[in-house]
Amino acid sequence: MQTVLVTGGAGFIGSNLIESLLKHRSVGRIVCVDNLDPFYNPAFKKENIKPFLKNEKFKFYKTDIRNRAALAKIFENEKPTFVVHLAAKANTRLSVNEPDEYQAVNIVGTLNLLELSKDHKVKNFIFISSSSVYGNSAVAPFAESGFTDQPLAPYGASKKAGEVLAYTYFHNFKLPVTCLRLFNAYGERQRPDLVIYKWVENILKEQPIEMSGAGKRARDFTYVGDIVRAIELAMKHGKGYEILNIGNSKPVSLITLLALTEKALGKKAVVKTRPSHHASVESTSADIRKAKKVLGWEPEVSLEEGIVRFVKWLRDNRFKDLI
Ligand SMILES: NC(=O)c1ccc[n+]([C@@H]2O[C@H](COP(=O)([O-])OP(=O)(O)OC[C@H]3O[C@@H](n4cnc5c(N)ncnc54)[C@H](O)[C@@H]3O)[C@@H](O)[C@H]2O)c1
Repeated sequence: MQTVLVTGGAGFIGSNLIESLLKHRSVGRIVCVDNLDPFYNPAFKKENIKPFLKNEKFKFYKTDIRNRAALAKIFENEKPTFVVHLAAKANTRLSVNEPDEYQAVNIVGTLNLLELSKDHKVKNFIFISSSSVYGNSAVAPFAESGFTDQPLAPYGASKKAGEVLAYTYFHNFKLPVTCLRLFNAYGERQRPDLVIYKWVENILKEQPIEMSGAGKRARDFTYVGDIVRAIELAMKHGKGYEILNIGNSKPVSLITLLALTEKALGKKAVVKTRPSHHASVESTSADIRKAKKVLGWEPEVSLEEGIVRFVKWLRDNRFKDLI
């Protein structure tokens, strides 16, 4: 029976992953390590993991990944087969103003997990990276071999550092590592700081939504269920060191995204434009041929369908009192 240690498991993507892993017969134990970081309401994170707490396969440790000694005890007790490392400070724009915190969690935290995964001979270390590593310099659609030396914010730089650090653990200790560069995740339990969530909240509250620039910037929005499937496939197929893009591969402009959101809600937005942030990239666009070849993975949920599911979830869970 496998034990999967998921860092950041109380967050958006992590809790969707755990919900799915709990259904797998081959997974005997799921260990969630999360410090319930207050960057957004920790009550949402507690709500995310609440249904899992009664499952005997599930164990939660409220632990900071910067604390190597505490992590060492968890590894000693739990002996994980796989590590899926999602815990991170994950807001690009904020990282420009809080670089120390971003480097400490995203780089030192990753180093702690790599060290322990090496010591405990973990079968695959799945490092959750980001399309932010491509900055504005890669040629779209971004291939894994594209230019990643100039991310625009400390967040993207910390993800690039994590990938490179992980490589050294493969090189020196043969720790198998799969780095998944996720592109703009959305769906059930999404972070409240992200577009779609913020727009739905404002539209339902009849407040203006903020549109960055002229709304022409494009993003490759990827449904969280498709991301979860990619992580599970990476656990099965991981060997050696791989970097794989995980994106919908169909970028849309923010204007198109708003039209789809309005359609799913059956309500129109009042739009207030604001200048684009200089740390925000022009576009994200995934070349996913490698993920298809290595994992046999392709996205299955269209943006149109995913937004309908997500808006329903938001109405049922976060905005029950708003019409
Ligand atoms: N959401 C996206 O669009 C997206 C895109 C690319 C990459 N990613 C990456 O995916 C991962 C998950 O992102 P998410 O959107 O689910 O964010 P999230 O904030 O919902 O989840 C991250 C979790 O990590 C935890 N965490 C933060 N600091 C920690 C620490 N010091 N110790 C222990 N736990 C800590 C948080 O409490 C949170 O529950 C992150 O690594 C993020 O960089 C996300």
